[in-house]
Amino acid sequence: MNRLDGKVALVSGAARGIGAETARQMAAAGAKVVIGDVLGERVLETAREITGAGGTALALALDVTSEASWTAAAAAATKEFGKLDILVNNAGIFLGKDLMEATMEEWSRLVAVNMTGVWLGTKTCAPALAESGKSSRHGSAIVNLASVAGLVGSQLDPLYSMTKGGVTLFTKSTALSFGRKGWRIRVNSIHPGVIETDMGAQTFASRARAAGSNDVDEARNVAMRQHPIGRLGVAEDIARGIVFLASDDSGFMTGSGMVVDGGLTAQ
Ligand SMILES: NC(=O)c1ccc[n+]([C@@H]2O[C@H](COP(=O)([O-])OP(=O)(O)OC[C@H]3O[C@@H](n4cnc5c(N)ncnc54)[C@H](O)[C@@H]3O)[C@@H](O)[C@H]2O)c1
Repeated sequence: MNRLDGKVALVSGAARGIGAETARQMAAAGAKVVIGDVLGERVLETAREITGAGGTALALALDVTSEASWTAAAAAATKEFGKLDILVNNAGIFLGKDLMEATMEEWSRLVAVNMTGVWLGTKTCAPALAESGKSSRHGSAIVNLASVAGLVGSQLDPLYSMTKGGVTLFTKSTALSFGRKGWRIRVNSIHPGVIETDMGAQTFASRARAAGSNDVDEARNVAMRQHPIGRLGVAEDIARGIVFLASDDSGFMTGSGMVVDGGLTAQ
């Protein structure tokens, strides 16, 4: 199940957190992984860790807001490994501010990373993905990192929620568009609840601020209690879902959103 033998995957924002764990799990499942991030040293470290564990990884400097950077990354992936089967649009940032407090600069940055980055990654990698999709049983795959905040409103961060809502519908529109073109690229999104990564920690700090206290531990406990399953998520939970969506086991899925949120949005 969920094997990726012989596949080549490009994961954005893979220096740490969900992206790094996805790259680790994909390499363990047999994929060659190309991992890009703005955190140059950290992404190299992640690649060293993967190769040290017997996997194949190539680390790149990738700024998802730059079309030239994406072009270079897609070219490096196909030059090094001959093709591209999987794109994971994972890079993202969180703001954690009320809409009345955010500045134009903050909004522009949020849109650039969370939305422009997903579109540019899709646009730049689509030709290589369409090519490899021709010879793959279930086509090639794009997995976009949305959020539960892309399904329901977020009191904590309405602007982040707006960008993730965009990713949710861009995923569906892209699946339709590629399908009509006859390109065999499946496009799905994943919607994590609160996950204990650097971004997760940022959300606890924002919650503590919004509650008028500096009690980050209490904010974390409140977040945990909101998840009916009784715990917060970890990167492994989400990476497993991403590997499934990238693998042939999800061969009849496109334009779908997979919710991995410990029951958060079931209420
Ligand atoms: N952690 C959560 O609770 C949570 C919940 C729902 C969705 N998500 C989404 O999951 C994805 C991964 O989040 P995470 O929790 O691992 O966060 P994280 O902050 O730990 O990792 C995000 C990575 O993206 C990279 N990045 C940021 N800007 C970039 C840019 N311009 N170009 C390339 N890389 C860039 C960062 O350097 C970092 O390595 C994000 O899209 C996030 O919105 C996270």
